[in-house]
Amino acid sequence: MKPRVYVTRKMPASVLSRLCERLDVDIWDVEDEPVPRNVLLKSVAGVEGVLCLLTDRIDEEFLRSAPGVRVVANTAVGYDNIDVAACTRRGVMVTNTPGVLTETTADLAFGLLLATARRIPESEQVLLNGEWKTWSPMFLAGLDVHGATLGIAGLGRIGEAVARRARGFSMRLLYWDKVRKPSVEQSLGVKYRSFDDLLRESDFITVHLPLDAETRGLFGEREFGLMRPAAVLINTARGPIVQMKALYDALVARRIWAAGLDVYDADPVPPDDPVANLDNVVALPHIGSATIATRVKMASMAAENLIAGLSGATPPNLVNGEVG
Ligand code: DGY
Repeated sequence: MKPRVYVTRKMPASVLSRLCERLDVDIWDVEDEPVPRNVLLKSVAGVEGVLCLLTDRIDEEFLRSAPGVRVVANTAVGYDNIDVAACTRRGVMVTNTPGVLTETTADLAFGLLLATARRIPESEQVLLNGEWKTWSPMFLAGLDVHGATLGIAGLGRIGEAVARRARGFSMRLLYWDKVRKPSVEQSLGVKYRSFDDLLRESDFITVHLPLDAETRGLFGEREFGLMRPAAVLINTARGPIVQMKALYDALVARRIWAAGLDVYDADPVPPDDPVANLDNVVALPHIGSATIATRVKMASMAAENLIAGLSGATPPNLVNGEVG
C-alpha cells in the first residue's frame, strides 16, 4: 500500500503525477488559496507525510492532529513556518528546498534594489498619471547604484549570489554574518564588518538572513538611527526581521531614504499597509523565487524529499539531521 500524504496546494502537473506514482495523494486543490486551518487539521489525521508551503503553520497542534506523520516537506528554503524542535521531538523529518531558488531570488533582490534606487515604479506611475510635463533637472532623481557600497546582512547562498551581481555594478561590498566566510571574502572581494559598522557604512543594505529567535526584529529604531540618511533597505528574506513600525517612522522622517520590500510582518500584507503605501517604498508581494522554472524545481524538490523520506531513505534536504 502506498503511504498516504496530504498536499496543501495545487502543484504543477508533472510534480503531482510523480507524487501519485509513489504515494496516495490527497490535495487542497485550490490555486491561490491556502487550505483553511480546520480543513488542514482534519485532512492530515491519517497521513504519513505532508507537502506544504510557507503559508501552512506546522506546530504542536498540527502534529497532534497528524499522529502518523513522518515527513514534513516544505516547498521553500525558509522553514520558519515549521516548529522544527517539535517535529524533532516526535521523530518527524523536516525538509526544505535550498539551492534551486538562489539565483532567481538574487535576481529579484537586485532588481528591487535598482527599482528602489531609481524610483522605477513611481516613475512609471507618473507617466501613466499624465504628470510628465517636461524634462527637468531633478525630476524623479534617484540614487546611483554603481560605485555605491552594498552591505549584505547574511552571506549565505543568496547573499553571495547578490554579491556576484553587485560586482557587475562596480559596487563596494561589505557583509555581516554570524560566521565569517574567508573564502568568499577572497573570491568575491567582500569585506567583513560588525553589524553596526555595516549599518553605518552602507548605502544599500540587503537582508538575506533566516528568520529565527536571533534575527526577529533585528532592524529597529536603533539600527535605522545608525544607517545613513541616504541609505536604502532591501528585504527579500523574511518580514519579521524588520520592525515595521520602526521602518515606517524612519522612512517618514527620512532617517533613511527608501526601502524595497518583498516580505512583511504579515504575509500577505493588506493593500492599505502604511509602509507599502509610502512614496519611498517599492513593495512586492513575496515573489523572490517566482519564476516558472524555479517554482517547478522547488515543488519537484519538495516532492522528492517527501518520497525519499517515506521510502525509508534520508531525504536529500533534511533540516533536522538528528531524525533521519
Ligand atoms: C523561501 O523559499 O523561503 C522563499 O521565501 C519562497 O520562495
